[in-house]
Amino acid sequence: MNNTILQRFDLDGRTVAITGGGGALCGAMADALGTMGVKVAVLDISLEKAEIRAQAVIGSGGTALAFACDVLDPIQLRECCEAISSAWGPPDLLINGAGGNDPRGSTSADFEEPARATAQSFFDLDPAGFRHVFDLNFMGTFLTTQIFSRGMVARGRGSIVNISSMSAFMPLTKVAAYSAAKAAVSNFTQWLAVHFSHAGVRVNALAPGFFMTEQLRFLHIDSATGELLPRARQVIAHTPMGRYGRPDDLVGALVWLLSDASEFVTGVVVPIDGGFSSYSI
Ligand SMILES: NC(=O)c1ccc[n+]([C@@H]2O[C@H](COP(=O)([O-])OP(=O)(O)OC[C@H]3O[C@@H](n4cnc5c(N)ncnc54)[C@H](O)[C@@H]3O)[C@@H](O)[C@H]2O)c1
Repeated sequence: MNNTILQRFDLDGRTVAITGGGGALCGAMADALGTMGVKVAVLDISLEKAEIRAQAVIGSGGTALAFACDVLDPIQLRECCEAISSAWGPPDLLINGAGGNDPRGSTSADFEEPARATAQSFFDLDPAGFRHVFDLNFMGTFLTTQIFSRGMVARGRGSIVNISSMSAFMPLTKVAAYSAAKAAVSNFTQWLAVHFSHAGVRVNALAPGFFMTEQLRFLHIDSATGELLPRARQVIAHTPMGRYGRPDDLVGALVWLLSDASEFVTGVVVPIDGGFSSYSI
């Protein structure tokens, strides 16, 4: 690879806002970008988690600030955007990582079997829980983008990476609310990519496969025994590479999408899934 190509991946001196940056996957992104000279604003509903991550970035020689920020609160989002701009200048990179699942939006069985009772059937799903999952994953992405992209459009430069999921391509069993919400994230990624295509702002998404973080645990691990549940064995069997993802697996594609290396790429949802979405029998 010659230097010119490497330079196109260079992010040194840029500023990124990462929502959910205190979490497992986006925390790894914060770490990696910090080592590349990116100024990292870690936004999380938990100030403690944001601070721990920001300190880790700083401890590795990077530059970071922590913010308590709920992606469903436009006032907090606006305040964060202004604080980042005052500290470093306006962010030109955004990662919409805050998201997650909630058992209230998931059925306990794959299939409705009229003859067999289940702990939580489709008919038991709590509308408030369903709405919470939809709001967190989709509205959180929409609201954050609306606030942070205004400055990018004004300056004619920016790259936004949303975090979608395997459940967006084809809904996963049980996780009804999460699948619908992530499908909306992918759809919105494409819509906004087109809408901003004359404004110098690119919009793409990563669709992680299965990464054993806290939010996967309740569906994959038996909390009493610590054993893998049948669903976990199904996932591994359906992942040609035969393992869960590791947070660092996301970093290569993330850097590509954030940087000028992907300057003609907008509106794509990149699976990072060990082959899961390509596999049939
Ligand atoms: N773990 C996986 O296998 C997997 C797979 C596909 C997609 N994803 C997605 O990747 C992203 C990160 O997942 P993770 O596994 O690292 O989860 P995580 O729970 O470790 O991280 C999520 C972070 O978001 C924060 N958060 C929650 N609600 C928030 C709010 N309202 N405002 C701001 N921050 C909030 C949490 O405090 C947490 O730090 C999520 O969007 C998730 O849906 C994860």
